[in-house]
Amino acid sequence: MTQKRWSIQQILHVTAEFLRDKGIDSPRICAEVLLAHELKKSRVELYLSFDRPLSSEEIAGYRSLIKRRLRREPPQYITGRQEFWSLDFFVSPAVLIPRAETELLVEEAIKLGQRNLLSDNSKPRILDLGTGSGAIAISLAKGIETATVWASDISFEALAVARTNAKHHNLDRRIKFCQGDLWQPFSKTTSLFDMVISNPPYIATEAFKSLPPEVRYYEPKIALDGYEHGMHFIRRIIEESGIYLKPGGWLLIEMDPDQTERALCLIDATQSFKHKERLMDYQKRYRLVKAQKRNG
Ligand SMILES: C[S@@+](CC[C@H](N)C(=O)[O-])C[C@H]1O[C@@H](n2cnc3c(N)ncnc32)[C@H](O)[C@@H]1O
Repeated sequence: MTQKRWSIQQILHVTAEFLRDKGIDSPRICAEVLLAHELKKSRVELYLSFDRPLSSEEIAGYRSLIKRRLRREPPQYITGRQEFWSLDFFVSPAVLIPRAETELLVEEAIKLGQRNLLSDNSKPRILDLGTGSGAIAISLAKGIETATVWASDISFEALAVARTNAKHHNLDRRIKFCQGDLWQPFSKTTSLFDMVISNPPYIATEAFKSLPPEVRYYEPKIALDGYEHGMHFIRRIIEESGIYLKPGGWLLIEMDPDQTERALCLIDATQSFKHKERLMDYQKRYRLVKAQKRNG
């Protein structure tokens, strides 16, 4: 008996239905992304060769990717890629998958650079604390061409991914990578930075059980767990950033909408900052807190 030869169009249709029945989010997109990965093509190219029959090796390879997705592994870890700020990033289970809402941090930081609001306009020095895949640091190095960017993380494995991404985008000479616990890699003696930016771990430990399996079982706990109701790193960043920022320098932190009020109080308590505000993401939820260090 001859085996059925599936075309791209047929297998996408059947797989998307199957994934939908199994409760997988965005089943059609997932079916396309994983088939494109298996065939080493773009999603557009799949559409351009809808009638092409698949070989039995290609079907076997695709099936094993689908099996991984059914175990709720995020598609980004299966393909090793995620887009952020219209740039392509390599991701592995050592790093958080960069999220769309984090683009707000990058957008705000670039606006400050473009409006000449950074204290050293000619060569601003920017620190990305907890860089993970390097998504923020690399997007900023691209967006503010005169900037030198420091990218730090406690995780050696994450830094290796960030370095790979910086090389891929030809920015490895403008980004300095540092390993250590938050401020520990930096000297306390000088005001170093025109801007400190961070998307720190901010999920409350007690909220872990309600996270989707893709996040809970696959993304690194060290990138998520914010202890102290999610506020541990946010508090430490706010309390100490005054030491590392130049007068007039900016602090930008992403957090959960419910944490922004407390973060503003912590900023007030330091008495180191003047302008402070919280900004909403595209879903109209407060997502970012921003403050400027006093001049004197
Ligand atoms: C929420 S992830 C953000 C990753 C990346 N910046 C992004 O936005 O996609 C937080 C990052 O902070 C790092 N991290 C956790 N604890 C840290 C610490 N004590 N010092 C420095 N980095 C830390 C994690 O390894 C992780 O890469």
